Amino acid sequence: MDKVLNYTESQKERYLEELIDFLKIPSISDLPEHKQDVLDAADWIADNIKKAGMENVRMEETPGHPIVYGEWLNAGADKPTVLIYGHYDVQPVDPLDEWDTPPFEPTIKEDGKIYARGTCDDKAQLFVHVKALEAILKETGTLPVNVKILFEGEEEAGSNHLDEFIYANKELLAADIALVSDTKWFTEGLPSISYALRGMCYVEVTVNGPFQDLHSGTYGGAVDNPVNVLCTMIAKLKDEYGRIAIPGFYDDVLPLDEEERAGFKELPFDHKQYCDYLKISNTKGEYGYTVVEQTWARPTLDVNGITGGFQGEGAKTIIPAKASAKISMRLVPHQKFEDIADKVKYHLQAIAPPTVDVEVDVLHGGNPVMAQRNGEAMNAAMASLEEAFGVKPVFMRAGGSIPVTGTFQDALDAEPILMGLGLPSDNIHGPNEKFDLRNFYGGIKASVLFFEKYGNKH
Ligand code: BES
Ligand code: MN
Ligand code: MN
Repeated sequence: MDKVLNYTESQKERYLEELIDFLKIPSISDLPEHKQDVLDAADWIADNIKKAGMENVRMEETPGHPIVYGEWLNAGADKPTVLIYGHYDVQPVDPLDEWDTPPFEPTIKEDGKIYARGTCDDKAQLFVHVKALEAILKETGTLPVNVKILFEGEEEAGSNHLDEFIYANKELLAADIALVSDTKWFTEGLPSISYALRGMCYVEVTVNGPFQDLHSGTYGGAVDNPVNVLCTMIAKLKDEYGRIAIPGFYDDVLPLDEEERAGFKELPFDHKQYCDYLKISNTKGEYGYTVVEQTWARPTLDVNGITGGFQGEGAKTIIPAKASAKISMRLVPHQKFEDIADKVKYHLQAIAPPTVDVEVDVLHGGNPVMAQRNGEAMNAAMASLEEAFGVKPVFMRAGGSIPVTGTFQDALDAEPILMGLGLPSDNIHGPNEKFDLRNFYGGIKASVLFFEKYGNKH
């Protein structure tokens, strides 16, 4: 093991140079003009895992961006199989003028962090495991476990084609656990493993009024205004206690038990610091729950954007022909995305006035996930983090979503191990995204230790 860790130590600079190359590729999955860049990132990481020693490396085409697959299955049938998942696509970069350094010119600053779009989410995090595997293979010629790699290019766009691929390739992907580094620590200096993720139901609602924009003097007062209607409908979706007012929405929500609530309370959360960091005067969530509970264990409904009518400078007097809103709902165990989508669609039609025509499109979704907090793999992950970072890790839940993790459980019976390495201040999805290099190198060490410890249990 020392040999392997010495090797990783000696390769630090090259690892960083490679990471920088990877980060330079603007693989924004949701913007069609970056299609070639997403492909380039897939090629780049496929080539890198091949050089690391993975076998049968290939790109699997989908109707969207390709899936990168690789394997190393020579540990023997008595050893467990680890499916490593990550995503090589990244979020869009707007607003660009809020970046201190260009998003695709990776920059290391004096704070020891590397700034670039996609560094924390998820390129550096998935790369940690690639470099760990490379080091073990180069130094020992073998791996303590069987490994399958699945890197996708559509996570930030909702992983729309991944489920189909997994269900169609259950044998190829069969694994005991799914190792995922795409979450974050509770706070800097406190290694954490998430055991639950929220799910997602993302819809777009369009309110259609008159055949085209109308003069608001000639018709105003008589013709219903789609923007007004949309706002009225949105205002009805939550009550004054912050509860979502869609019938049946909470039917399958798993209530928090006292033990879990007590566990949450032990984590170092400072409400004032939280508000100060966000530059808000106070939080506003569902009545009766703490911020930690609100963000981890309760569902949400948020409007991500509203479009409709005149958006230019100055004033224009119209009754717009239509208006639309993008609405996301975070789901918690044991809500089901399809059930919630049906309820939302039904409710939006039910509250729409007869003077307009309402359409609801489901853009994407995924079920929430609850993983086991025990078992050999989980114990190995906790022990590896502790050894690599010198601090006992904590369990937490995550407010975010990784749609495929539920599919790993359902289709492959593979428990997810969410060994995330991000920090709350990493600005994922926002300007000035970054990743702490200590977590990069510490993560590589933790990953090496994890494969070793988990393999040795068998
Ligand atoms: N890595 C995040 C998910 C995440 C964020 C987990 C923070 C834990 C803490 C992932 O890349 C992501 O952004 N997921 C999207 C999924 C959506 C597009 C379906 C999300 O959560 O918004
Ligand atoms: Mn991610
Ligand atoms: Mn993301």
